[in-house]
Formats: sequence, structure tokens, C-alpha cells
Amino acid sequence: MNAWSQTTLDHRTVLVTGAAGYIGSHTVTELLRQGCRVVALDNYCNSSPEVYRRIEGLAGTTFAHVEADVRDGAALEKVLSNHDIDACIHFAALKSVSDSIIHPLRYLDNNVRGLLVLLRVLQRYHVHRFVFSSSATVYGDPVRVPVAESAVLNATSVYGATKLMGEDILRRLAAAPAELEETWRVAALRYFNPVGAHPSGQIGEEPLGIPNNLMPYVMQVAAGLRPKLSIFGGDYPTPDGTCVRDYIHIQDLVEGHLAALKHLLDGGASLTVNLGTGRGTSVRQLVETFVQVNGVTVPYEFAARRPGDVAQYFADPSRARELLGWQARHDLADMCRDAWRWQCSQPQNHA
Ligand code: NAD
Ligand code: WQD
Repeated sequence: MNAWSQTTLDHRTVLVTGAAGYIGSHTVTELLRQGCRVVALDNYCNSSPEVYRRIEGLAGTTFAHVEADVRDGAALEKVLSNHDIDACIHFAALKSVSDSIIHPLRYLDNNVRGLLVLLRVLQRYHVHRFVFSSSATVYGDPVRVPVAESAVLNATSVYGATKLMGEDILRRLAAAPAELEETWRVAALRYFNPVGAHPSGQIGEEPLGIPNNLMPYVMQVAAGLRPKLSIFGGDYPTPDGTCVRDYIHIQDLVEGHLAALKHLLDGGASLTVNLGTGRGTSVRQLVETFVQVNGVTVPYEFAARRPGDVAQYFADPSRARELLGWQARHDLADMCRDAWRWQCSQPQNHA
């Protein structure tokens, strides 16, 4: 946790959009655990309100939740007029790279217009502390690794472009002259590859349909729900020929959000930081670690490269450490163990 901030979240109220999703649900749990009041908002387009019961069980407390779309200004007005909000963490977005190429307008409307509608309502209610879910996808195919925040930005998908546009909107907002002494303070957090689950095994990632991402696919193969994993490409210019990524435990990612939130509530300046471990892991290393720590089998075969994949990227996480006193603590074995505990905790997740 942020070693420097003296701020506690006790008696603060945070609006969390996309609260029922993978990262939102884990963040709400930790906010509540730290005494924060939460107002959760989601339209459940990629989640279910079912998760709120489990969050309340884990946190030992209840919280307000609203079914609404972030593009619905009237619904947001109602939320803001009913609650005295100190800050907003904005997770609500569509996140599939491949889907965004097929449905560009859907992604632009949801992710960019959604952000603008939300910001306008927050502004009207004088809420100017804002944590934004960005993504390492804004770096495209990085020239060098580890990737620092100063690297060239080059989103190749529509999804990535919506994150770049979001960052740009927020940067301009934060640079605007203070109106009535109300300056926007924004933390744009560029996540690398979040994986794993809450150590209780009670909440985790719940992809609908066939998973796009590696860890959920590995989990489903290990559980016998799918026959084998296809490893997309074994001939990349990496040590073992498979792609290298920076996988980060969901609980570390959550701690990064809380550190950023406390920084902003402390009066800290706007910032853009990577949230990654700084370690590169290949697809094969991830599969082998998963097999080893969980004592399972994960049959795999090599398949063609997936279009759009880059050979390798991992974070330079030093700015987050300098500005927030945050660094990732969990290793790959923790990520694999906690992911598997979550998979095993639900009967429908097993063959
Ligand atoms: P998720 O799909 O599990 O959660 C997003 C939530 O937002 C869902 O519950 C969905 O129902 C909700 N939502 C979407 N559009 C909405 C709208 N218009 N109004 C209200 N609710 C809406 O995704 P996640 O993995 O938890 O991702 C959270 C955020 O982090 C997203 O902004 C995503 O782009 C970003 N991100 C995710 C990853 C990742 O690998 N998971 C990596 C980098 C960035
Ligand atoms: C990881 C590696 C695949 C599935 C994506 C988004 C990114 C961010 C995080 C939101 C790659 C390989 C995968 C499979 C495989 N999300 N793989 N077989 O592509 O690094 O990042 O999620 O912001 O924007 O692009 O993650 O988990 O899909 O893939 O071999 O069945 O696993 O080729 O090398 P990715 P991923």
C-alpha cells in the first residue's frame, strides 16, 4: 500500500463505475475493507449484480449500488444528488480489442461518450478527483522494453484509441485554469495484464463465452471445460519463442488504485503511471507455472500467431513507486494459485 500517504479512506465516499466487473469488484471490496463508503454503478453489460452479495460478505458491510449506464446523464445526476461523492474511479468500459475493430462506433460511444457524460455531471457536482482505467495497449508495439510512461503512444485498435482519447480528454481537463479553485486532479493508470483473483476464491474474473485472454483460457482447460490451449505463435523473437507480457496480480492492481486515490485526496498532482510488475513472462512460462503450482494438466498446441499481437512488452514501474510508493508484491505463482482457487470455488467452472 502507499507507504507515504497519511490519508485514510474512512468517511470518504467514492463513486465506482463498472463496479460489478473484474477489476471493479476487487477494488470495491478493498475500498470497503478500508472503511470507505462506496456507491457502485454498472449497467451489467459484462457482469451481474450477483457479485455484490459476495463483496458484501467479504467486506462485512453493505454499500449502495445503482443500475445505470454512464452515458445516462439523468441517472448520474440522481446518483450525485443523492450522495456526497469525494472522488470517482471509472472502470466502466468495453474492453475487447477484437470486438472494437468490428464495432468501432459501439466502443467510441461507450468508452469516449461515456467518459464525457460522466465528467460533465461530476463537474456540476464539484467532484474533481478522478481515477481512470487506462491500458498498456496505448503503447502499441513498443520500441524498447521495459516500457516507461514517456514511450511513444500508438494505439493500434479502436479499443486502444478510446483509452488514448480518454487520457487526452483528462490531460486537457487537468490543465485547464482552476475555476472557483476547483482543479481537476486525475490519475491515469496504465494496466499491463491483470490476472488472478481475490485470495478468498469468492470473486474473480467471469468472462462470458470463450475467453479471449490467456489466463482465463488456461483455467478453463485445467478445469476440463476446454480440451486444450492454443498458444498463438511459437516463433517470436523471445527466449522461448512465445509472447512475453507483464502479468500483474489483481490485488496488486487494486492497491495501485487505492494508492492513486489517496494521493489525489491528499491534494497530490495529476499523474499517469504504469501498473505492472516490471517482469516479463512468456506464455509458456505462465502455463508451466500454472501446471506446477496447482498440480493440474494443461494440454496445449502451437497455433498461428494471433493478428495484432506484439512479441513482448513489460512495464517500467518505477514512476508509480516514486510518485505513489506503490509496487507489485505478488509473483506469478501467487497469480496462478489464486486464479485456480477462484476457478475451483464454483461448481459450474468445473467439468
Ligand atoms: P469488465 O468488463 O469485467 O468490467 C467493466 C464493467 O463496466 C462491467 O461490469 C460492465 O458491465 C461495465 N460497463 C461497461 N460499459 C458500461 C456503461 N456504459 N455504463 C455502465 N457500466 C458499464 O472489465 P475489467 O477487466 O474489470 O476492466 C475494467 C477497466 O479496466 C476497463 O476500463 C478496461 O478497459 C480497463 N482495463 C482492463 C484490462 C484487463 O485486462 N482486464 C487491462 C487494461 C485496462
Ligand atoms: C496474452 C498472450 C496471446 C490466449 C489484452 C489486451 C490489452 C489488455 C490486456 C485491456 C498473448 C497469448 C492468449 C490464448 C494464447 N486489456 N494467448 N492463447 O493480448 O497481451 O492483452 O489484455 O486493456 O489491451 O490486448 O492479453 O491474455 O489476450 O494474451 O497463446 O488462448 O497470450 O497471443 O501473447 P494481451 P491476452
